[in-house]
Amino acid sequence: MLNIAVFGSGSGSNYQAIAEAIAAGTLNARIACVIADVEDAFILERARKNGHPAIYLDCAPFKTKLDGEAEQRALQLIEEHGGDFIALAGFMRIVKPGLLRAFAGRIVNIHPSLLPNFPGLDASRQALEAGAAETGCTVHFVDEGIDTGPILIQKKVPVLADDTEESLMNRIHAQEHIAYPEALQKIAAGHS
Ligand code: GRF
Repeated sequence: MLNIAVFGSGSGSNYQAIAEAIAAGTLNARIACVIADVEDAFILERARKNGHPAIYLDCAPFKTKLDGEAEQRALQLIEEHGGDFIALAGFMRIVKPGLLRAFAGRIVNIHPSLLPNFPGLDASRQALEAGAAETGCTVHFVDEGIDTGPILIQKKVPVLADDTEESLMNRIHAQEHIAYPEALQKIAAGHS
């Protein structure tokens, strides 16, 4: 069984989908804890409601990475809660070698595009601006790059003529909520 530490910064809808898959018995895992770098992130509220340890992690002085003392604290928190796997779910920071080494091959991320297309920020805007006929989402192992690393699962989403960034993102999100639990179950079952 995977003991998952979920890292997020925002709404936490992917965390919620993972928690629901566990509750439904389709994902053989346990949520060890939920860690957010934003104190009032909705993901923490969702975690509290679900009865999962909900932890705010102050990542200062860094703005875009998890490093230094905060990285050490993250490792400590995961250990305290019995975590053995990390799922990044809307975590808006780059993870650095300290965490990557401690959890080698045991950190995954979800990204709202068909990687390697449209990595980084604003993936759905990038897809619209590129005139792509389709985009989607990717669950992948995390390495030192940005949205690189071996791919576990992808789901396609068509780009419609009248799509706005928001309408496209909504349809991508719906696929993410299927893809993330599926990818994690693949790992839990040893099929990754
Ligand atoms: C998702 O679109 C994910 O692909 C990206 O950040 C978003 C997080 O959404 N990395 P949520 O917080 O899970 O609702």
